[in-house]
Amino acid sequence: MASTAQSLPPLRAREDVDALIARLAPDPAWSFAHCTPRETTRLTHGYHRYPAKFIPQLVDRLLDEYLPRASDACVNDPFMGSGTTLVCAVERGYRATGTDVNEVACLIARAKATPLHPQRLQAFLAGWTEEVEAALAGRGPAQAEGEAPAPGPPIPAHERLDYWFPPQQKRDLGVILGAIRRVEDEDLQTFLLCCFSHILKNCSLWAAGSTKPTRSRTKRPAEAWPTFLRHLQRMVRRNAAFWAAVPPKVRAAPHAYVDIRCQDARRQPWPDASADILITSSPYVTSYEYADLHQLTALWLSVVQDLRAFRAKFIGTGSPLVERPLCIRSPLGQATARALWARDERLGLAVGHFFMDMEETFREAWRILKPGARACYVIGNTRLKGVDVLNAQVFAEGLLLAGFSLERVILREIPSKILPQTRDPRTGRFTSPRNAHFHAYPVEYIVVARKGP
Ligand SMILES: C[S@@+](CC[C@H](N)C(=O)[O-])C[C@H]1O[C@@H](n2cnc3c(N)ncnc32)[C@H](O)[C@@H]1O
Repeated sequence: MASTAQSLPPLRAREDVDALIARLAPDPAWSFAHCTPRETTRLTHGYHRYPAKFIPQLVDRLLDEYLPRASDACVNDPFMGSGTTLVCAVERGYRATGTDVNEVACLIARAKATPLHPQRLQAFLAGWTEEVEAALAGRGPAQAEGEAPAPGPPIPAHERLDYWFPPQQKRDLGVILGAIRRVEDEDLQTFLLCCFSHILKNCSLWAAGSTKPTRSRTKRPAEAWPTFLRHLQRMVRRNAAFWAAVPPKVRAAPHAYVDIRCQDARRQPWPDASADILITSSPYVTSYEYADLHQLTALWLSVVQDLRAFRAKFIGTGSPLVERPLCIRSPLGQATARALWARDERLGLAVGHFFMDMEETFREAWRILKPGARACYVIGNTRLKGVDVLNAQVFAEGLLLAGFSLERVILREIPSKILPQTRDPRTGRFTSPRNAHFHAYPVEYIVVARKGP
């Protein structure tokens, strides 16, 4: 009979783990199927789309179960993405730390996790939007006598911008970005840059609804300024709700509660035994190329100079710049990489490196967590080239080998995750449902490990 997460005995041995995870049945209490998009994008969670973002309800539930009465705690997410975990933590008055190698993720997470004083924001925006409108109309800021003329809009010289943006959108976006760059307050600038980043897709020739960088021949890109203003108003409302939700101590000193670093999860900048819980969703092997998906923002903000070197930093989706010998500790991980390698050498190596890199992050997680603290990993299993890739089991084995004990594994259905559900059988990458051959990640696991017995 299938067992639910609640009925799992304490798990230590690897063989128990693999068998028990394989027999799990989905736990309806963790699917959050009743939640509307309005609820899953509440507060600042709706600032910016992000591939494979998880829903705040899941993080909230883990915090309820594992940090129920903490008055002061530190919550960590090593693969922070758009910062869902951090926003949930800050909302409760906890300190939140996060790392991500993606500059765009760090920008979004900073904007989302920093509540701004609503009246001050409104007052600032009244003047700032007037300035942008004047600049768009060609009037520009008034020039003092003898002063050099204001420079033109900061449009990066990159041929890809002409590939994605028609001239009008490119010019207007340049004007908006110029006005954002002139804002001196860092928090306000981050808030505006997040809005700017979010609208880029709509204002470009990027095919609507596509999670891949596909150029549409028929799309009419949205006008930049009205689109920016509409999203800005949404963000202003969401910020006001977030401001009202966070405790007064966070409002008084938001920066004391959030520490975000654009850094590799394998080398966490935090001291030993400093975090009370880790809640994360790791990258998925061969799924998203975040470097490609965020290229519009990366191009405009000039955050990526060398796309190849940038890609190589990503666990799971990156192609390593240097050859590395495979050294996977999980026996199931080793067997999986070997089976894949026999069918496709490149894929076998990619999956092998993914497991190896994740094992390094488990050791780092063990180091930064306090004794008794939990590490919660959200991950899906899949099948590539006819080989089962049982990430949840491999993660459980890796966590055990890093010194954790395994406390619980939850299987959940994912009704609302923004994740393509099918893979191209040739490349193993996500594809449109039209080319469906099998499902990828229709359910996912939450693997909960504990530092200590
Ligand atoms: C599934 S996403 C996380 C989404 C996040 N839970 C959210 O709600 O937005 C995985 C993240 O891992 C990041 N990542 C990939 N390799 C990394 C590495 N070596 N160190 C830190 N972050 C990395 C990716 O940039 C991506 O943002």
